[in-house]
Amino acid sequence: PPNGYLRPEGAPVGVIAHRGASSAAPENTLVSQEVGRRAGADFIENDVQPSKDGVPFILHDKTVDRTTEGVGNIRDLTAAQLKGLDAGSWFAPHYRGAPIPTLAEQLADLRTRGGNLLLEIKGAHTRDEVARIVEVIRAERMAGRVFVQSFEVDALRHTRDLAPELPLGLLRSTLDADPVAIAKDLHLTAYNPNHTALLARPGVVADLHEAGVAVMAWTVNSASSWKSLEAIGVDSIITDKPAELAGWNDAL
Ligand code: G3P
Ligand code: CA
Repeated sequence: PPNGYLRPEGAPVGVIAHRGASSAAPENTLVSQEVGRRAGADFIENDVQPSKDGVPFILHDKTVDRTTEGVGNIRDLTAAQLKGLDAGSWFAPHYRGAPIPTLAEQLADLRTRGGNLLLEIKGAHTRDEVARIVEVIRAERMAGRVFVQSFEVDALRHTRDLAPELPLGLLRSTLDADPVAIAKDLHLTAYNPNHTALLARPGVVADLHEAGVAVMAWTVNSASSWKSLEAIGVDSIITDKPAELAGWNDAL
């Protein structure tokens, strides 16, 4: 593959745990990260957004409503308010009290225990907000183990300007007319499409590989789709079921 660490040598596909092992534990928490890590995921995928006072936190939605007992936009809540919320009970009573982690906590945990982070910059971010994310990654000495992805082209451009050492992936719900051109323009290491869109135009994988760009497909939870994606040469698969995908990999 064009970028070896996206797919461990000899493995059919790289395993990326979507929001951690989000089928088994509450998404985007330290516990789902740990379950994903123990499942053998090559990367843990998490979403990052700032609190009202500018601290990068790990949360998928714009609001805390779905995954905590609180209400409101993350950008209207302070770090202190976010830290008081329970992000585990909505998933199962067993996880009561699991906090919304900060990016710093998530990175410190991975640094200590081992593992890599596929960090999605979720939603539009200003240059200063991206700078804060970069600052945290560097302060945690994790620049060598973080891969940044986003649907937001501007966030990727800011990341490239501020931290050229970080590899970049562009998330896409539909395929661009010319994915190679946009990959070159944005200096992408990976192009990360919705898997259904990709399977409708599988030749895109070979085009990207020829240009030295890896392909990471999301979000895929069935063995039949893993097989289709492996057959067209996808490098990594983002899944809610990392243990199952790792087992499927081993059985091939
Ligand atoms: O990593 C790809 C995937 O996470 C993008 O969709 O909504 O789960 O962030 P979403
Ligand atoms: Ca995501």
